[in-house]
Order: sequence, then structure tokens, then C-alpha cells
Amino acid sequence: MDQLPFQSLPLCGILAMSICTYFATLSLIPVLREKFIKANLFGIDMNKKTHKKIPEAMGIISGGTFLITMFLFIPVRFSYYIFNDVNLPRNELDELLAALLSICCMLLFGFLDDVLNLKWRHKLFLPTISSLPLLIVYYINSNSTLIIVPKPFRTFFGLSIDLGIFYYFYMLMLAVFCTNAINIHAGINGLEAGQSIVIAISIIIFNGVELFGKCIQAHQFSLYLMIPFLASSVALFKYNRYPASVFVGDTFCYSSGMTFVVVGIIGHFSKTMLLFFMPQIFNFLYSVPQLFHLIPCPRHRLPKYDEKTDISKPSVIVFDKKELNRLARFIMSIFRCFRVVDWKESDDGIVVCNNLTLNNFVLIFFGPIREPSLTNIMLLIQVICSVFAFIIRYPLASVFYDT
Ligand code: UD1
Ligand code: MG
Repeated sequence: MDQLPFQSLPLCGILAMSICTYFATLSLIPVLREKFIKANLFGIDMNKKTHKKIPEAMGIISGGTFLITMFLFIPVRFSYYIFNDVNLPRNELDELLAALLSICCMLLFGFLDDVLNLKWRHKLFLPTISSLPLLIVYYINSNSTLIIVPKPFRTFFGLSIDLGIFYYFYMLMLAVFCTNAINIHAGINGLEAGQSIVIAISIIIFNGVELFGKCIQAHQFSLYLMIPFLASSVALFKYNRYPASVFVGDTFCYSSGMTFVVVGIIGHFSKTMLLFFMPQIFNFLYSVPQLFHLIPCPRHRLPKYDEKTDISKPSVIVFDKKELNRLARFIMSIFRCFRVVDWKESDDGIVVCNNLTLNNFVLIFFGPIREPSLTNIMLLIQVICSVFAFIIRYPLASVFYDT
């Protein structure tokens, strides 16, 4: 049917449909904005002088247009088999349906979080449940739990290891991490949507290159999801960037994290996908003392806004050093040793320390700056990390694997 190694017709189809998704999302958001405020779905932008109501959970619109595009794409994708009376590739259909079910679940749970403000234990439980349809189809279709051991470790472990059940555990942890990592790397206009856009573009470039490699189907599958996801996210970003007229909410953060997880798992490139999450991994590791309540963690950790100068500074927490347990003291002493925290301690042991987020870390490094500049720096870091990820994935890969 096609001269190219991959099927170009479905790819052209999803490309054309994604352009429609972009314009549909772009026109739906302003229409529905006021309705969200009327339904009490709004937040206050904490980094602005005007404390006006900003509609929250708008990720439900971009997520909705994305899902509708995908549902319409299913008959497009399989039309060749239907019209020519050829056997359907059932495995691919199963994978697509399971992927959409997992994303849809995460969209629903994210919306629930925006409405009910769920507790942290729920934020860990919900991605686990949502990824089950995906893992069951993975088990039935491929059940590939073998990993190739990097060259330096082959004398100890051999060429490959079958991780068995632990591989499924890894995939569950991946779902919990990716959904929450986008959400906790947030709090400034445009960052949630912006980071997802950079990751999506990186994955699309990676899939595009790999279309000429060995695992064509897997990368083609990833593109079917990534292209409309990118289109809907760019439209959302247009309203979420500084000065934000909508907030994306946990709805967007969770569903975008799950979209990356499904393409990473079904496409068998979860390790490469994690390389594109470097800033989120740093933000998570840096946040660990607060996330595990070793030091106090306020409800919001976003940078502190100075109304007079319109500038953002690192936000801080104040606590008594005597209240810290041994583990907290040990971790914080490492952070202080590497000078990654702004730590001020008075003689009576009262400590003033920045909230442990990448946003605040960048502000310590660059000094107080305006919010849009901070978003630009954060997105530039995301781009630089993606370039670095490609260097690891391609030129450096031969150091660790037989390429
Ligand atoms: C996560 C972060 C929290 C951060 C919040 C902001 C952790 C553990 N939690 O909490 O520190 O403050 O995201 O997204 O790291 N907001 C703004 N400007 C923005 C985006 C959001 O002021 O550009 C505020 C608005 O008041 C909005 C609220 O943050 O209503 C949304 O917070 P929510 O998503 O409910 O917070 P969490 O995801 O629980
Ligand atoms: Mg959030």
C-alpha cells in the first residue's frame, strides 16, 4: 500500500484531524470559560496584583477534544482492513482502546481532584488504578519483561534479565511518577502545559526518527496519540501562558502524565521517555523532604509574589531545627553542602529555608525575576534537557548497549 517503511495514510489522517483539534480547543475554551466560573470551578492567581477569578480544570476541554479526536480516528486507522475485508490487527486495536481508557480514567480522576481537592494518598492510588487496563493488555499482547543489561554490568548479570512481576511494578510506579511529576512541577503561568508540550515534541521527534528503524509499529502508535495531544495542549497553552486567563488544573496534569506513560509502555521506550522527564525527576528528588513531610510542606509551594515590584522570589518555610528527625537533618545537610538550598538559621535554631521546588531553585540561582521570565527559563531548561536526552539516547547509547 505504501512505499515508505511506515503507513503514511493513517499518519496523514491524524495530522489533519489534529489541526481540527487545535482549532476546536482554541474556540471552545473562551466559550466555556465563564460557565466554569459560574460552576465555582475557579482559582485565584497567587502571583498577580488583581485577584480575579480564573477558571480552573480547563484541561477537561483539551482532554475532551483529544479523546474525541482519538475516538474518531479509530475507524480511520482501521478503514483499510474493514473495506478490504482483511483481518484486523486486533492487538493494536486492544492497545489503542486500553490506552484511551487509562487516559480517560486519569482525566476523570484529575477533574475529581480539581473539584474535591483530594488527599495525597489518593493521588498515589488513582494512577495505579487507571493504568491497570493498559497493563492487562500489555500482559495479554506482549508480556515482555526482559531488559537488556547495559554493557558495563554484563559480567555480573549477563546479557539480559527477566524482571517478571517486577517489570509490572516498575510500570505502575512509572504511572504514579509521571502523573504527579507534571503536577508538582507547577504553580507559574504556562508551566504545566509548556512542559508537556516540550516533552510531547521530544517524543514526536524521537518517534519520527525511529519510524525508519526496527520497531516501526510501536512508534507509529505513539505518534497517533502524541500528535493530537500536542495540538490540544498548544491550544490550551495559548490561554494558560502569562498572564493566564485559564488554569489547566490537575485534570490536565494527570491526563498528560498518563498519555506519556501509555505511549512509553506500549511503544516499549519507557526508559527513553524518562530521559525527557529530567527536570521533573530533579524536581521530585529535590521535593522529597517536603513530600514525605520530613520538613514542613505547605499547601502551596509556588514562588512568592512581590506586589510592589511585580517580581517573584523564592517562597520559604520557617521551622524549628530541633523538630527535625535524624533523616531530615542528614538530607538537609547534604542539600546545604551542595548549596542547593537557601538556608538561614538563627542562634535559637529557627530555620528559614526555601520551598524545595525547581522553580524556587532557579530563583535562588538567577535572583528575583518576573513570572514570565521564570516560565521561559523553566521551559528552556526543559528543552536543554531534551537535547541532552537525545545525546544520551543516540551518540552515547553505544557506550551502554550494542546499537
Ligand atoms: C501542586 C503543588 C503546589 C503548587 C500547586 C500549583 C506540590 C506538593 N504541590 O499542588 O505546591 O502550589 O500545584 O499548581 O508540589 N496557581 C497559580 N498560578 C498558576 C497555577 C496555579 O496561582 O500558574 C494556583 C491557583 O490558585 C490554582 C492553584 O494554584 O487554583 C491550583 O493548585 P492545585 O493544582 O490544586 O494544587 P496541587 O496540584 O495540589
Ligand atoms: Mg495541580
